[in-house]
Amino acid sequence: MENILPPANKDANLRDYRQARQSFDWKEVEQEFSWHHTGKVNMAYEAIDRHADDPTRGQRFCLIYEDENRTEKITYHQMRDLSNKFANVLRKLGVEKGDRVSIFLPRCPEYYIAMVGCAKVGAIFCPLFEALMEVAVGERLTDSEANVLVTTPEMARRVPFIDRPYLRHIILVGAKNMALKSSEVSWEEEMARAPYDFDIEWVDLEDPLYLIYAFGSTGNPKGALHVHRDMVGYLITAQWVLDLRDDDVLWTTADPGWITGTVYGAFAPWLCGVENLVRGGRFDLEGWCRSIQSHRVTVWYTAPTVFQRLMGKGEELMKGYDLHSLRHILSVGEPLASEVVYWGRRVFGTPIHDTWWMTETGMIMIANYPSMPIKPGAIGKPLPGIVAAVVDPQGEELPPLTLGELAIKKGWPAMMRGIWHDEELYREYFSREPWYISGDVAYMDDDGYFYFQGREDDLIKVAGVMVGPTEIEEALKGHPAVADAGIISKPDPLRGNMIKAFIALKPGFFPTKRLKEELIEYMKKHFSPRIVPKEIEFRSNIPRSEEGTVIRRVLKAWELGLPA
Ligand code: WT7
Repeated sequence: MENILPPANKDANLRDYRQARQSFDWKEVEQEFSWHHTGKVNMAYEAIDRHADDPTRGQRFCLIYEDENRTEKITYHQMRDLSNKFANVLRKLGVEKGDRVSIFLPRCPEYYIAMVGCAKVGAIFCPLFEALMEVAVGERLTDSEANVLVTTPEMARRVPFIDRPYLRHIILVGAKNMALKSSEVSWEEEMARAPYDFDIEWVDLEDPLYLIYAFGSTGNPKGALHVHRDMVGYLITAQWVLDLRDDDVLWTTADPGWITGTVYGAFAPWLCGVENLVRGGRFDLEGWCRSIQSHRVTVWYTAPTVFQRLMGKGEELMKGYDLHSLRHILSVGEPLASEVVYWGRRVFGTPIHDTWWMTETGMIMIANYPSMPIKPGAIGKPLPGIVAAVVDPQGEELPPLTLGELAIKKGWPAMMRGIWHDEELYREYFSREPWYISGDVAYMDDDGYFYFQGREDDLIKVAGVMVGPTEIEEALKGHPAVADAGIISKPDPLRGNMIKAFIALKPGFFPTKRLKEELIEYMKKHFSPRIVPKEIEFRSNIPRSEEGTVIRRVLKAWELGLPA
């Protein structure tokens, strides 16, 4: 008997999944936006300005920013004015509709003001993750051909002195009393001078809003282009998946340099007019608990690694804080072990709700909804309005309990509209009509729940870092007993993800427990701890394709006891 958890909250915004699926129409969601009546489109207007003069919403905090040293609160009303000012700064620097503006900042209020200001002039903002090093920053600046960069004097040291035919201006946040170069301006000085009024640039729903980079399997960064129409998908997922209501305080822990932070740490909650907490700085267990307690966070969207840090010794510490405000908790990005789902229910009184999506999909695609029973281990069911399937290499839909590639029927509002400067790669995602091919391996059960099983392109995320299995396989083959090896990742109750190795032995070697231990020791001595397999299983041979690549799908099926 498999374990099923009863719904966490039957009174959720989405009450009846099945009925919503049957009657769903994107047109109905569109009616909630002012452009549906006025014809005037801009994400910044819908997310911020629309609420600014509302007596209640206008006074709510669209940003509660906090780190170890400071707390700063910005209302929707204030955000309208501040983003107007920044839009004026951009105009003055000659930024026009369609120009790219890179934002390379730590989490701070200016980050959010900059994103909204860019949207107001119709510019395309490019978030760059704060921890990127020089080469990565350079690649992204060059690829996006950004005209303007917003950064701090300290982070500017990681901006390489590249040949900059496009980059005209650098806006420095926190450059007080510094001598500026001719290409540099001070955020504080320009903002102080800029007027409060700004006429928003009205755009088309299909006009670009932001360009965000993800790591590709080849190592080259790929820039996914997103448009203003994305807002339709943000709103419905904020309502149905995050279950946001008027009086909620949301905390999405992701950095806006990753899409979870851009979308669910900013625009999605803003479209709902709720309060939004952003915590700067590093992970710090007590600081995090204090933030939840003092701002009465009700909805928390975070990642498996965070739960793993809270489990174990963190649990004792948490008892010192009142975390009862938390009503709904969600996870994304990596496999969520079943144990964590149960742990959430025990500690917070609500199970952790897993969600699945990608930089390319722009919005949550598959999720566990508060009103739906949870099967721990499953990423959930597709959002009403989204058709998901598991398909074979020809794009044919596979029956339940069969491993294949997770695919989404194309045409949802937040789908990426391009890969910047790589039309060919973009087309590859859609080469099997009518599907968007995710590159994730998955299966569906008889009840329509989906289960994530890894990446088709062989990348494995361990402790948040992508590793290629081939390097691990080759390392294992360096041992005298090993004829061939195949690697998969599987959920680990403590680490989120672990590496399992299937090994075929050379003639004359026998599959003993002792040999397993020796192989693990061998790996420990020679390679970084991250790539040491936690589990080894001996097989008579490892399935390889004609080209010689390991057929990981078969290994996964072995692991799950599914037909190979
Ligand atoms: C990849 C996308 C946009 C969300 C943050 C990551 C993996 C995503 C889950 C999940 C297991 C997951 C997939 C996907 N992933 N959600 N619930 N369980 N794996 O965005 O950096 O574009 O990565 O993250 O492999 O393809 P991303």
